[in-house]
Amino acid sequence: MRTQVVIIGGGPSGLLLGQLLLRQGIDAVVLERRTRDYVLGRIRAGVLEVGFVNLMQEAQVGARMLSEGIPHDGIRISYDDELFRIDFARLTGTPVVVYGQTEVTRDLYDARDAAGGKTVFRAENVQIHGANTDAPHVTYSEDGQIRRLDCDYVIGCDGFHGVSRRTIPQNIRRDHEKAYPFGWLGVLSQTPPVSEELIYANSERGFALCSMRNPNLSRYYVQCPLSDQPGDWSDDRFWDELRRRIPPAAAETLITGPSIEKSIAPLRSFVSEPMRWGRLFLCGDAGHIVPPTGAKGLNTAASDVHYLYQGLLSHYLDGDSAGLDNYSADALLRIWKVERFSWCMTNLLHRFPEQSGFDLRIQRAELEFLHENEAAQMVLAQNYVGLPY
Ligand code: PHB
Repeated sequence: MRTQVVIIGGGPSGLLLGQLLLRQGIDAVVLERRTRDYVLGRIRAGVLEVGFVNLMQEAQVGARMLSEGIPHDGIRISYDDELFRIDFARLTGTPVVVYGQTEVTRDLYDARDAAGGKTVFRAENVQIHGANTDAPHVTYSEDGQIRRLDCDYVIGCDGFHGVSRRTIPQNIRRDHEKAYPFGWLGVLSQTPPVSEELIYANSERGFALCSMRNPNLSRYYVQCPLSDQPGDWSDDRFWDELRRRIPPAAAETLITGPSIEKSIAPLRSFVSEPMRWGRLFLCGDAGHIVPPTGAKGLNTAASDVHYLYQGLLSHYLDGDSAGLDNYSADALLRIWKVERFSWCMTNLLHRFPEQSGFDLRIQRAELEFLHENEAAQMVLAQNYVGLPY
């Protein structure tokens, strides 16, 4: 089989790129290692930058997101007995949209079905061959049969553990990594959100976040030790801990219920450079990871999709390959700024096991400065709503 572009990974970034390309008549096959139900069962963050929203509309997949997504004009931050708001509308004129990544993925699969795009599920043992030649191909097995796909370009949207990044030789790749000494325990519950806006809480018991998916679906997180297992946390223990970390007024009105999902995710910052090797391009988590404090994972994948899409479009439509040649440099310029922001938010809001008395006072001074200083709030707001592409 032959196609123009092979996209490895059927998560939101691969599907979004596939949809954008399909609409321009560029043929792309998506290879996904799991089943559609598995992909749609993954619970991820739910805050979309306007850049992401625009890309979904450009791909003509934005209708449900626009009707069901909830625009948010700000976030709340709490520390000690203080609570303040970052006003995105006033500081930037731009909202973010709360709409779950799972729903984004569902919309993209529905659109892909409708447009007749080819997706191979349960594609096992995917391997990329000749990435640094003019004639790359990808092999995989499907129902026990080995198959071969010849193509012009391979796009690695297969996440941190995927095969794409590992295909780039060690002597070409430079990996930068920072692991944080804690995780996030996340709970999804069919209850009304405690606050109309997200609350990011720095408490002496550790970080907590109150988020949401829709008016009757809440998403909450508490910072926890990396050694904890979800089974260590009964629902009651989770709700008690959350109440102790969020502002008292929120704790009093918190409506609790049975958890419908509970999981622990480690926090990591990671960037692999370059993001291109010959005809293989890394996109999203395959090339970089941010800690979730700031909700930048999917949004950063979307900026990669934007640069790649523009590059592929110029190449196929105008025979101009400058966009593809500059992809890695252009994408990384923005990625490192988002890495900085996510690292900064993580440092600002969490309790670190090794934090000294001095470190704690500095953290508090930073929160106080942010609380009272509009320029500092502006910096946070501009980063949170999304840097330009
Ligand atoms: C979420 O809703 O899951 C969420 C929101 C904001 C974050 C991280 C996760 O910073």
